[in-house]
Amino acid sequence: MTGKLISYEVNDSDITIIFEYGKGCIRVVKEDIIRVLCPLEMQEIPSKAIEGDKRQKTEFTVEMEETVLTLRTPALLVKIYDEFFVDFYTADGSMLCSDYREKRVLIPRISERMKKLMQGEGHNAAMLMKESYPVQVVKKMDGDEKFYGLGDKPGFLNKRGYDFENWNTSDPHAQTEAFKALYKSIPFFITLKEKGVYGLFFDNSYKSYVDFGRENSSYFFYGAEGGNLDYYFIGGKKMTEVVANYTYLTGTTPLPQLWTLGYHQSRFGYESAEDIREVAENFRKYQVPCNVIHFDIDYMDGFRVFTWNAENFEKPGALTSELEKKGYRTVTIVDPGVKFDPGYSVYDEGIAGDFFVRDANGDVYINTVWSGETVFPDYGRQKVRDWWGEKQKYLVDIGTDGIWNDMNEPRSFRSDLPDDVQFYDGDRKTNHAEMHNVYGHLMSKASYEGLMRAEEKRPFVITRACYAGTQKYATVWTGDNHSLWAHLQMAVPQLLNLGISGFSFAGTDVGGFGSDCTPELLCRWVQVGAFSPLFRNHSSKGTIRQEPWQFDEETLAINKKFIELRYRLLPYFYDLCHECEETGLPIMRPVVLHYEDDRETWNLNGEFLVGEHMLVAPVLEQGAVKKTVYLPAGVWYDFFTGKPYEGRQYYLLDAPLDTCPVFVKEGSIIPTYEVLQYVGERPYDTLKLLIFPGEGCYVHYQDNGIDFAYRKGEYNLYEFRSDGTGTVRTEMLHEGYRTYKAVETIAITEQDIL
Ligand code: GLC
Repeated sequence: MTGKLISYEVNDSDITIIFEYGKGCIRVVKEDIIRVLCPLEMQEIPSKAIEGDKRQKTEFTVEMEETVLTLRTPALLVKIYDEFFVDFYTADGSMLCSDYREKRVLIPRISERMKKLMQGEGHNAAMLMKESYPVQVVKKMDGDEKFYGLGDKPGFLNKRGYDFENWNTSDPHAQTEAFKALYKSIPFFITLKEKGVYGLFFDNSYKSYVDFGRENSSYFFYGAEGGNLDYYFIGGKKMTEVVANYTYLTGTTPLPQLWTLGYHQSRFGYESAEDIREVAENFRKYQVPCNVIHFDIDYMDGFRVFTWNAENFEKPGALTSELEKKGYRTVTIVDPGVKFDPGYSVYDEGIAGDFFVRDANGDVYINTVWSGETVFPDYGRQKVRDWWGEKQKYLVDIGTDGIWNDMNEPRSFRSDLPDDVQFYDGDRKTNHAEMHNVYGHLMSKASYEGLMRAEEKRPFVITRACYAGTQKYATVWTGDNHSLWAHLQMAVPQLLNLGISGFSFAGTDVGGFGSDCTPELLCRWVQVGAFSPLFRNHSSKGTIRQEPWQFDEETLAINKKFIELRYRLLPYFYDLCHECEETGLPIMRPVVLHYEDDRETWNLNGEFLVGEHMLVAPVLEQGAVKKTVYLPAGVWYDFFTGKPYEGRQYYLLDAPLDTCPVFVKEGSIIPTYEVLQYVGERPYDTLKLLIFPGEGCYVHYQDNGIDFAYRKGEYNLYEFRSDGTGTVRTEMLHEGYRTYKAVETIAITEQDIL
């Protein structure tokens, strides 16, 4: 397409390459991040994922021989050829990633006639991808690549052999690995192979396709329906460095308020104040800790956003303040669609301000969502985001502590929005095809910034639809799953891949949203939920109720046990949030992230790390009371009994219904708190350290858990060192906040510790 390589110019960190039929650009963002840009649509499409200038001053050299341009940074060697083929090597010349020079091989698998017949029977007989996409990058496969990341895509941890679409999609059916797209588009993945590891981030919001060797095992490819060819090669010596580099580009999840890490209860729908009051009372009655109750769409007046259904939910502010007194925080749902309803103030303001998207003829576009005829704010414009941000105040004033953004793919009931619906990207007129995948992102940004202006607390926004980089503004849940074992099994790889795609603060609907939950499924799900960053039980109208007490005493006791465990481990989770803000490393991690040289970890779908110190191996199969666990290198201690296990081995462990195997690595120090019924019940004055055998060092972070004072130095950093005999030395690395009254240590030996 671009023809022969002619010459080049270096300007600061950009190398402009002149080809026979056009120009390309290579940007040295830092020594191990290289941007490749071919402006197919326009010179520069402003990135939604990357904010601010990420370039670091980097020494590099460029030289051109006849048919190849060579760029060297301290970390990478990049060679650029005719047709803008680009190959990436380590600095010492080991090939990492190379463009595939041949044509893609498309093998028609069935005749057109057969395809039609099969479609008649309801089969999806499309089976082949397009021959080529307006934007396309094809990379060679060496044969041993594993692929991780790509956000919330269904299926297994390692995506090799599968293909996916990036088009934010809400499909309420039970999901399997045959699903191509879900709610989020995060076109970033990590390739791990024997000779190295790297990431690729395709910063293009149009509908796109990623094929990891499904079409042909000689290559993997990325194709998009429009936009620029604009991608980042993300290096790093280890997988952890690739994740850190990716989040350096797109941002890390900011430290949340401490209570957001507690247990959340939700249901679509608690239909009245009475319903909610009963739920709140039951948690305290059964002494099951709970911090948050979510209000689904029924709290609104006729599903009109930024209104209150005073008839069923009492006068605005009354219920929230009653709940607050009992230690509950309130999170209210807000959908993007505004009811088409002249006379309703939000609709009227939007019309007066020209804030809604328009159809190809220039009329305000109308579709149907919960409230009936609905119009859609055009969040690509700053003034629309500002307006939407201001609207949050209505809920904050009522006493809401967090905003739950849903249906923001955007979902519409009367067919999808046509591609040509007019949207804006800043001042530039564009269309739905370009803005669809960033709609949820921009809505979350508007909500986050609005909350930021409304009060001096760390905003808590939960969103369903996302693009790369949304982690800066919102926590996420994986949307409408089902109370099915297959969904519980998928929850683990899904959260792990979200984590290494930047989304550290993520969770699934514990117990499952659609279909009926069973007591056993809820018990096993709460064991995963207790270790998921966002821990929320949520279910749909029409399904069996699944709050912890809804089944029997055993189910209640198991829920209580794991929710209490979560409250005990809150300082560990909070430390991981602090680490995440600094480094981008997620809370819940695939084992491969820290043990990439150990091939047994490459496809571990049923166990995970929480931070670097803890390994969780939940039972994910109906009826199972044993679990096969792989422990990587080192000695691991059973968290509950202190029993040691030598790593690099598989174990078949007993795991009756009330047990979830959890291990802690030798030399670890795990900080714990007493179990409270909710964060805020009493100040956490005592920190209890669980000291596992072996020498170790652990840095613990503490602040007020609420606002941004920590950014002005109001926090403590403790360094604890254990010498392997149970003795711990403490050093204050930073003191800017009231310290604990006591730090106690418990040396773990082979015994029951909980
Ligand atoms: C969507 C959401 C779900 C919510 C429901 C009603 O299906 O994914 O969580 O309960 O809408 O608002």
